[in-house]
Amino acid sequence: MPKKVAFFDARPYDRKSFDEVNRKFGFDITYFEAHLNPNTVELSAGFDAVCAFVNDTLNAEVIEHLHQHQIGLIALRCAGYNNVDFKAALNKVHVVRVPAYSPYAVAEHAMALILALNRKTHRAFYRTRDGNFSINGLLGFDMYGKTAGVIGTGKIGKCLIAILKGFGMRILANDAYPDQKFAKANGVEYVSLEELYRQSDIISLHCPLTPETDHMINARTISSMKNGVMIINTGRGRLIHTEDLIEALKSGKVGSAGLDVYEEESEYFFEDFSTQVISDDVLARLLILPNVLITSHQGFFTAEALHNIAETTLSNIREYFDGGYLENEICYKCDHDCRKNEKKRCW
Ligand code: NAI
Repeated sequence: MPKKVAFFDARPYDRKSFDEVNRKFGFDITYFEAHLNPNTVELSAGFDAVCAFVNDTLNAEVIEHLHQHQIGLIALRCAGYNNVDFKAALNKVHVVRVPAYSPYAVAEHAMALILALNRKTHRAFYRTRDGNFSINGLLGFDMYGKTAGVIGTGKIGKCLIAILKGFGMRILANDAYPDQKFAKANGVEYVSLEELYRQSDIISLHCPLTPETDHMINARTISSMKNGVMIINTGRGRLIHTEDLIEALKSGKVGSAGLDVYEEESEYFFEDFSTQVISDDVLARLLILPNVLITSHQGFFTAEALHNIAETTLSNIREYFDGGYLENEICYKCDHDCRKNEKKRCW
C-alpha cells in the first residue's frame, strides 16, 4: 500500500510539480487547499505524513493532534521553519525541510526588488501605459560604488552578494557564523550589525527568523541607518517591525522598502483579495506608499525551485518511511548546519 500524504495549502502549481515528480515515488497524495491549523488538523486523520508550507500553523495543539493520529512526519516544503513549535514536536514527530532548492530564485527576486525600487520601474510601467512619458519623480542612483549590507550569508545571502558584486557594489555582511573564507575570496567585509546599519545604502535580510532576529529592524535600529536607506526583506516578515518601518518611510529616514514577506502575511499572501476590503490597516498603508514594493512571498517561485522542492520533499518522505537517516531533519537548537558536518544533532 502506498503511504498516504496529506498535503496542506495546496495550489495548482504545487499539484503540477508534485504530481510530476511523484510518478517516481508513488505516494498517495491528497491535496487540501486549506492551511494546516487547529481547525483543519482533523483532515490529517488516516494519513501517514503531512506536507506543510510557510503559513501553516505547526503549534503544540496541531502537533498533539498529529501525534494522536499517529503521524510521525511533518515534511515542510520550504526552507524556513519558524512556524514549528519544536518543543512540542520533540519525541513526537520528525520535522524535515527543503534546506536548499534554488537560492538563486530568492536572491534574483531580491535583486528584482532592488532594481525596481531604485529606478522606479514599477511606477514607470503604469505611467507609460497611461501615455504619461514624464520622468519627474523617477530619479534613481548608480548602484556602482555604493554599499550593500547583507544580513545572513547563507545560501541566499551568498548568491545575492555575487549578483551585487556584478553591479560593482561594496559588500558589508553580518552573520551569526561568519564564513571568513568566503569573505576573503569574495572581497566581503564582515562587520557588526551597528556598522552595517551605519554604512549601508541598501540592506537586505537573509537570516532566519529566530528570537534573536525577531523585529531586528525597528525604530532603534532604523535610527542608526543612513538617511534614505533601502531595506529589502525576502527573509521572514517578523524580521521587521512593520509599524516602525512605516513611520520611517513616512519621515523619509527609510527611502524605500521591498518586501516579499510581511509579519501578518498568513491571512493574505497567496490569496486573491482583489474584490475585498483589506482590513489589515498596516498592510493597507504599506500598499499605498509609492516607495514600497510588496510581492506576495514569491521569492521561491521559479520553475527550477518548484521542481527541486518536490524532489527533496518526496525524498525526505521516502527516507522517513525507509527508516534511514533523515538528512534534512531540522536541528531545532542550532540554525547552523551542525548535522551536516558531524552527522549528529545538537540535542
Ligand atoms: P541558510 O540557512 O543557508 O542561511 C541563513 C544564514 O543566516 C546562515 O548563514 C546563518 O548563520 C545566518 N544567521 C542565523 N542567525 C543569524 C543572526 N542572528 N544574525 C545574522 N545571521 C544569522 O538559509 P537560506 O537558504 O539562505 O535562507 C535564508 C532565509 O530566507 C530563510 O531562513 C527563510 O526565512 C528565507 N526564505 C525566503 C524565501 C522566499 O520565498 N521569500 C524562500 C526561501 C527562504
